[in-house]
Amino acid sequence: MSAPSEKSLAALLDERRTFAPPEDFRRRANASDPGIYDRALRDPEAFWAAEARQLDWFTPWQKVLEWNVPWAKWFVGGKLNVAYNCVDRHAHSARRNKAAIIWEGEPGDSCVLTYGMLEREVNRFANALRSLGVAKGDRVAIYMGMVPELAIAMLACAKIGAPHSIVFGGFAAEALRERINDAKAKVVVTCDGAWRRGSIVPLKASVDEALRGTPTIQSVVVVRRIGDAAKAAMQAGRDVWWHEVTDAASDQCAAEPMDAEDMLFVLYTSGTTGKPKGIVHTSAGYLVGVSTTHRYVFDIKEEDVYWCTADIGWVTGHSYIVYGPLANGATSLMYEGTPDYPDRDRFWSVIDKYGVNIFYTAPTAIRTFMRWGTELPARHSLSSLRLLGTVGEPINPEAWIWYHDYIGRRRCPIVDTWWQTETGMILISPLPGLTATKPGSATRPLPGIVAEVVDAKGDAVGPGAGGYLVLKRPWPAMMRTIYGDPDRYVQQYWSRYPGVYFTGDGCKVDEDSYFWLLGRVDDVMNVAGHRISTYEVESALVDHSSVAEAAVIGRTHEVKGQGISAFVTLKEGVTPDDALKNELKQHVVGKIGAIARPDEIFFVSELPKTRSAKIMRRLLRDIAEGRILGDTTTLADPAVVARLKTQYQEEG
Ligand code: WTA
Repeated sequence: MSAPSEKSLAALLDERRTFAPPEDFRRRANASDPGIYDRALRDPEAFWAAEARQLDWFTPWQKVLEWNVPWAKWFVGGKLNVAYNCVDRHAHSARRNKAAIIWEGEPGDSCVLTYGMLEREVNRFANALRSLGVAKGDRVAIYMGMVPELAIAMLACAKIGAPHSIVFGGFAAEALRERINDAKAKVVVTCDGAWRRGSIVPLKASVDEALRGTPTIQSVVVVRRIGDAAKAAMQAGRDVWWHEVTDAASDQCAAEPMDAEDMLFVLYTSGTTGKPKGIVHTSAGYLVGVSTTHRYVFDIKEEDVYWCTADIGWVTGHSYIVYGPLANGATSLMYEGTPDYPDRDRFWSVIDKYGVNIFYTAPTAIRTFMRWGTELPARHSLSSLRLLGTVGEPINPEAWIWYHDYIGRRRCPIVDTWWQTETGMILISPLPGLTATKPGSATRPLPGIVAEVVDAKGDAVGPGAGGYLVLKRPWPAMMRTIYGDPDRYVQQYWSRYPGVYFTGDGCKVDEDSYFWLLGRVDDVMNVAGHRISTYEVESALVDHSSVAEAAVIGRTHEVKGQGISAFVTLKEGVTPDDALKNELKQHVVGKIGAIARPDEIFFVSELPKTRSAKIMRRLLRDIAEGRILGDTTTLADPAVVARLKTQYQEEG
């Protein structure tokens, strides 16, 4: 199990500090009645129906839930449009001139889109998509940097009922191609390039490369973010500029009435084996789930400025930069760049510049800030902040306390939110006005969510014991299937324990029924909050002509949570040297993207396998984390692992 080391686990479970919600926060909180948990537990369908009534429907639903394990339908018979709910209805209310999106560009440019402006931009692009032949049900791939047009493109897709498939801009051409082909997308929306720490990432060039093998793509829409310096080559008959197609388009567009269960988007994520899975989310249940959780977990108020630092290429950006906040009519801040450009206090300047009230980021970022020191946040007021959140991986208590002390100035509650691409919405988290928090614990399942920690047989484990986190009841934003592969959906999530959703996470519950997430129990790594499977990196390595076999593990990493270690056997006659290590790392970057670059590569004479030919990952992890060899330079002798294997087997 790729969980924290025994030592950090013991420290985690020894953590006894608790932080009650500050009194003034509790009084004003959106969720202030502790009875909400019981109410939702007694009648979850009535609970979700009441939340669903906050949305605008074209046709009301007839039935809240139809549950034929593991196939869920929520708000059966209802019709609505997600973009209409996120934009139009606010644009035709007192929120017309309220900021929907505040955008801060990496070079320091910025813009504000009010709900009224956003409505017109979304309509223009929706019409542009239609003029390119995109109809309801067609898939649109989006491969962009964090520019406002990304949010506009998503909402335009939703407006005309064309599911989007966003591919994180850090993925390489081949990964993009694979995702485009799996979804059979008709159009790609991209940028000429993206800014990253002052240099240009040539997104359009990657699209051109990806499109050498994508039979379904008919057009490419290109946002001019960089200009001439990006040197984007436009292919006549296929590529069009965003500004040209939208300038020509009308700013009026009626929303397509969508069935509650029509697909809103597909988002690819890493699984244990095989190619990435296209996680399918549908319209009504997803929007009910993300808007409700955004309202309660982030306690969003009309006047708040809310900032989630994720990239929209991941689920966190889908649910908590775009759909949840905009459904609630909130002001959502979008930042294009990295935290260290031009300086390491960029986030704190942005918070002060816009008066950010709610700030949501990842533990890996917090650990990086800790390393950079307290002087940087101390240079800024940060007095607008009232609530902090984290997501993506377990947060170690030291990082939690640092965040609480130096960013929240001991004044702001912290919500540690557990969820997954598959769950669509936050499932385990404090409610900031109700829940006393413990550093390192995501605390309790949200109202309406039934989670349990079970042993291998599926029986609930007692307080303090470890097990597998499972979910025992459906929730509105749950994934509906894997795109094009319903069997895999059943097999991956619903087969280990019949009728119960298997999360793939290890967990413990303490005597107060608080949940302590322990990391993945499968071969999915969590590197700086990014989900990468060992299988994907292994496949990229063995694709190189010098490599015979590869085994990849996630090892504990102080800042990134996990780092990637690769053990590689080479083909006959290949010289194992540093130049080859670098070449292999580059090869992985070229196949998947920089997020998958191995931190270290060890050449070994053979991979340690059990008699049934399973790779002994625990041995490899013990080696990489220094528990067996200490100094890994001993690995310079490639036969070491083979010898260790014998010793390891003897020790059991
Ligand atoms: C991990 C990201 C501990 C977990 C929203 C999960 C967490 C995987 C937390 C999903 C948290 C996410 N505490 N672990 N608060 N949040 N995880 O699909 O292992 O990119 O299964 O979704 O991240 O990653 P994904």
